Amino acid sequence: MPVPVLTIDGPSGSGKGTISRAVARRAGWHLLDSGALYRLVALAGLEHKLERDDVAGHVRVAAAMDVRFGTDPQTESVLLEGREVSHTIRSEQMGQEASRVAAWPAVRAALLGRQRAFAEPPGLVADGRDMGTVVFPQAELKIFLTASAEERARRRYNQLKQKGSSASLSALSREIAERDARDSSRAVAPLVPAADAERIDSTDLAIEAVIERVIELGRRRALWA
Ligand code: DC
Repeated sequence: MPVPVLTIDGPSGSGKGTISRAVARRAGWHLLDSGALYRLVALAGLEHKLERDDVAGHVRVAAAMDVRFGTDPQTESVLLEGREVSHTIRSEQMGQEASRVAAWPAVRAALLGRQRAFAEPPGLVADGRDMGTVVFPQAELKIFLTASAEERARRRYNQLKQKGSSASLSALSREIAERDARDSSRAVAPLVPAADAERIDSTDLAIEAVIERVIELGRRRALWA
């Protein structure tokens, strides 16, 4: 039996992570945070002291790294080679590094099988940039979540503040614009909505309203009751 998949793609700060987690919890489905995999490749590359432009080295790391995601939504634990790195990979710097290594087709190819292996019964919510276009093109429901650049910078700012990290709103706006441009313009698997994606603009919507909309779209496609 094929495993049902719901993909949620969109730019940084659109709310993908929060929405994906909440919908996965409501449906009792597994969750793939594909951005975390790119962040882990970037971190592992730094730890192995790879040159920043060493594509082959990063591909080796992507293929070999031992990654485990905790199942407790409270802690959102991420283990790299058995070490807890969830806090480290969430920094803005690691987001930039991840976006850089993610532009290399060979790194993306090295992560493909690992991502598809997350599709296990009863279902998978996959969060990223190319979930609906490349990794799970057969997904039953595809969402493309957006929000204005100003709103996304403001959300990221609040998120970092909450975690006790220092942040500057103007620096974040600049970084988000840079990352958007790189993620959207790369040759392989750029950030574009799948032709059959449902678009949701979350700029003026509360998180709960977006979750309800996704749950309703899933219900209409008989993904859940
Ligand atoms: O979703 P995120 O901010 O954790 O992702 C970090 C970077 O990883 C993002 O800027 C681009 C890259 N990425 C990607 O290229 N494809 C994905 N499916 C997920 C993330």
